[in-house]
Amino acid sequence: MHENFIPLLVDPSHHQVNFSRMDESDDALFYSKERLVSHLDSLALETIVDLIENLVVEDNPTILDLMASWDSHIPVRLRSCRITGLGMNETELKKNEVLSDYVVHDLNRDCRLPFPDGHFDVVLNTVSVDYLKNPVEVFREVGRILKPGGLFLVIFSNRMFPEKAVKIWRESSEEERILLLEEIFQETGAFDSTGLFISKGRPRPSDDKYANLGTPSDPVYAIYAEKPGKAASRKSRPPIRLLKEGAMNKDTLETKKEQIHKTLRCPHCDEKMKKWAVPENPFEATWENEFLYICFNDNCPYYVRGWDHVYKTTSRMASYRFMYNQDKDICSPIPVPSPKALRESIID
Ligand SMILES: C[S@@+](CC[C@H](N)C(=O)[O-])C[C@H]1O[C@@H](n2cnc3c(N)ncnc32)[C@H](O)[C@@H]1O
Repeated sequence: MHENFIPLLVDPSHHQVNFSRMDESDDALFYSKERLVSHLDSLALETIVDLIENLVVEDNPTILDLMASWDSHIPVRLRSCRITGLGMNETELKKNEVLSDYVVHDLNRDCRLPFPDGHFDVVLNTVSVDYLKNPVEVFREVGRILKPGGLFLVIFSNRMFPEKAVKIWRESSEEERILLLEEIFQETGAFDSTGLFISKGRPRPSDDKYANLGTPSDPVYAIYAEKPGKAASRKSRPPIRLLKEGAMNKDTLETKKEQIHKTLRCPHCDEKMKKWAVPENPFEATWENEFLYICFNDNCPYYVRGWDHVYKTTSRMASYRFMYNQDKDICSPIPVPSPKALRESIID
């Protein structure tokens, strides 16, 4: 959890408004029509399969696909495991080839999950959390039905059925949705700390029907956590912060770097860099400049990937931000021990 994050989003006094929807009619009505479609482009779907492959380290896990439809995005290795689906449309669930069994159950009518305590090794929830009116209760139930050390993996993107998505989700930015989910996880008291995965800004597959619009591939965000109590013998999951960098082709990155003196935009995420006053340091004259430019975007792939890199190479919790020295026209990393570090010297 971010140490400076003020938990406002699931404030109980605002719950009714925050979790209201444009269409408050019975969910059974909306989902009575089967939708045998793909909700994301093929690259985003592949990313989800890879993510599940990497995070599910158990050999023969029992899996629940919570809010399931006809595709559970299960990698080949796990396709013969016992997989249960819970969703709203029976035709979709029947068409899902990996499910061993399924149940039609409306979580907005009854948050209780119809499964015994400690039953599953893994619970997946893909591009569906936006529709939950009582996510804390549902997440708490997931904690109950997971085995100790079990994984709850919540994946989201930026598409939705807006009429059925809750207001707070619709009105939040993608970054705020990460914070909201982190807070929901924390609020349950049922999980260890959360991990984060982001894949965004990658080129849309050329055969995609929207390829000619010039929009990138659908982003994939995942927040995940374990129920406390992992058995010492079980393999650990990979490091908390993973990131598939927007697979920007190298020429594009180089072109962006060449243009940086004009654009003052980070070549890794395209955000405007902040003008940063070099602090006076009488003991160590590191830079001669008065100002530098630094990318302070907490979702910049360069910075997010940096946590993993620094940890792997030095065992320290730190990252680096992208920095541009305008006087010398040089780009370099600047180390940061925390997301807040260096921000006090931003001047615009
Ligand atoms: C956008 S689809 C995603 C389906 C699937 N998880 C996937 O990855 O393709 C949203 C799913 O949420 C499920 N859902 C929506 N409201 C629900 C509710 N109140 N209770 C249980 N499931 C619900 C629907 O059955 C629907 O399949």
